[in-house]
Amino acid sequence: MKLTKNARFSTLCLHAGQEPDPSTGAIITPIYQTSTYVQDALGKHKGYEYARTQNPTREALERNIAAIESGGGDAAGFAFASGMAAIGAVMTLLKAGDHVVVSDNTYGGTFRLFDKVLTKSSLSFSYVDTADLEATERAFTPATKMLFVETPTNPIMRITDLAAAAALAKRRHARLVVDNTFASPCLQRPLEFGADLVVHSTTKYLNGHSDSIGGVVVAVGKDDIEWLRFVQNAEGAILSPFDSWLVLRGTKTLALRMAQHNASGLALAQFLDGHPKVKQVYYPGLPSHPQYALAAKQMRGFGGMLAFDLGSLEGARRLLNAVRLHSLAESLGGVETLISHPATMTHASVPADRRQALGITDGLVRISAGLEDIDDLKDDLTQALDLV
Ligand SMILES: Cc1ncc(COP(=O)(O)O)c(C=O)c1O
Repeated sequence: MKLTKNARFSTLCLHAGQEPDPSTGAIITPIYQTSTYVQDALGKHKGYEYARTQNPTREALERNIAAIESGGGDAAGFAFASGMAAIGAVMTLLKAGDHVVVSDNTYGGTFRLFDKVLTKSSLSFSYVDTADLEATERAFTPATKMLFVETPTNPIMRITDLAAAAALAKRRHARLVVDNTFASPCLQRPLEFGADLVVHSTTKYLNGHSDSIGGVVVAVGKDDIEWLRFVQNAEGAILSPFDSWLVLRGTKTLALRMAQHNASGLALAQFLDGHPKVKQVYYPGLPSHPQYALAAKQMRGFGGMLAFDLGSLEGARRLLNAVRLHSLAESLGGVETLISHPATMTHASVPADRRQALGITDGLVRISAGLEDIDDLKDDLTQALDLV
């Protein structure tokens, strides 16, 4: 099987990075569950010495995700034991004294890593609404070496203009890193807009089945690729062969799953938008979203993530206790619909005043729309909203 140069997205998802197993012809890349490789003679081996450094299952996944993030172009992927490990590896591109400008409502775990761990290594961070490019530029200092962006943001779905952010980073000689977890490469490919690095929690849409924790970095710069290959082995926070295999299985259906996540996300957002108990809905696919036009320009679909405000903690509590089909859980991007309360769950580690400033109110509820029948999801929300 040979992929043509212009193979399209769903074809790349299915086939990129994977060849039938050379020893048997197995169409699915096997799980190479081994710690080491027998060498033919002293100094003579098949390219594999030790499994922290090289593993064929992990390599297939890394090639696959690099191809789908870069549209089949030149990029390299590196798979890690979690999304946080992937982000941690990217931050090793910096050195003591460097400064990073970060999207202000970035994932709470990213904020915790930056604020509690990396400041100990003399990195400094400024948090700013990266949807506001002027404010973002004002946050730059002569020491700024990285712009770290999440778009859409979690949970209020602010959008950063990726082309403008890439131009700004380039002008200021900084790298643009994009956490693309919420959109997935199916909806948004930051490298096409000029980003230097993309990170993912593969735990979410890339694996898509809520049964694996993992992360990946995709890089295009030669020096960055070389460093990430070195640091992946040096720190050793690699993705296991079994998890690599699970994520490879996940990416095969990414395009199909995202089509339904898009449809269900939009249908739920429209349903909630018209409901008298709902104060506000945050979903970039609603024309009332302040950045609808930008989202439509840089995304191929608006995704399965939405949030809505019920006005009070009590309202949110009643809804969350009443839903039956929506599972109350952290995380997102799986086949099952999840519902959560950002203020006390995913964003509990963010100080209360910062949460308020970001719009993460006590009445805010987040949904990751899964693949159940949309009418069953609406019925479940209808009966739960009746109790609010
Ligand atoms: C946007 C985003 N980035 C990174 C992470 C961290 O990923 P992981 O939980 O796989 O370490 C998460 C987890 O929720 C996330 O939502």
